[in-house]
Amino acid sequence: MTEWNPTLYDNKHTFVSNFGDDLVSSLKPQKGEKILDLGCGTGDLAYKISKSGAIVWGIDAAHSMIEAAKEKYPEIQFSVQDGQQLESKEHFHAVFSNAALHWMKDQQKVIQNCYNALLPHGRFIAELGGAHNIETIIHAIEEASNHLSIPYEPSLFPWVFPTKEEMEAHLLKAGFRIISIEHYNRPTPLDGEEGIHNWLKMFSNNLFIHMTNKEKEAIYKQCENILRPKLYKEKEWVADYWRLRFIAVKET
Ligand code: BEZ
Repeated sequence: MTEWNPTLYDNKHTFVSNFGDDLVSSLKPQKGEKILDLGCGTGDLAYKISKSGAIVWGIDAAHSMIEAAKEKYPEIQFSVQDGQQLESKEHFHAVFSNAALHWMKDQQKVIQNCYNALLPHGRFIAELGGAHNIETIIHAIEEASNHLSIPYEPSLFPWVFPTKEEMEAHLLKAGFRIISIEHYNRPTPLDGEEGIHNWLKMFSNNLFIHMTNKEKEAIYKQCENILRPKLYKEKEWVADYWRLRFIAVKET
């Protein structure tokens, strides 16, 4: 299970919810609509959605993120819930998900659960890491592990980055009609000189779960050296993100 640090997330990774603003615009939340925010993190986008007058339920598999979300936005309902195990008695006008689905390895299951949680004609609007996402970072982690003779464990790889075709197949199999789906490169600036170090510390902990803190720090440093010529551009770190973004509707 990934350990999450909500303080590091909120202080150094605000780009996650900032990029999500645009996805909220595509959601077009309406007053009184019931909306499920799947993988809500510390709740910033749930809060933005709620400002439309929609009734939002934010869920996330990480206790620490949900605790932080509840503290920040006590007026919104948040619960610890893994999308892969979601069996909602409530039904929603829309399911929204930003930068979360790639943490859920059983993609067909989670997509089916979203379909089941929607009202007839309900919409599913999501963005996640798509094929080729963070490839440069992943290669650097492998290279750094080899260089330092610290075993890299592919079985600990915590993400799935589907192709457009794979996602289309999941959505259609679940019963969705696809309104739009795009796969595109979105270089993502990270915060400050420590940007790549903080990113590795925040998001890749799972891959390093078998290592001591000293080994982790050595990997971060080595990755920084490997990645500097590739991802440090005009005085900032820019991660090689690829996104998959779609709008789908529940057919009845
Ligand atoms: C992403 O948003 O693409 C992402 C974030 C953390 C780890 C891996 C991918």
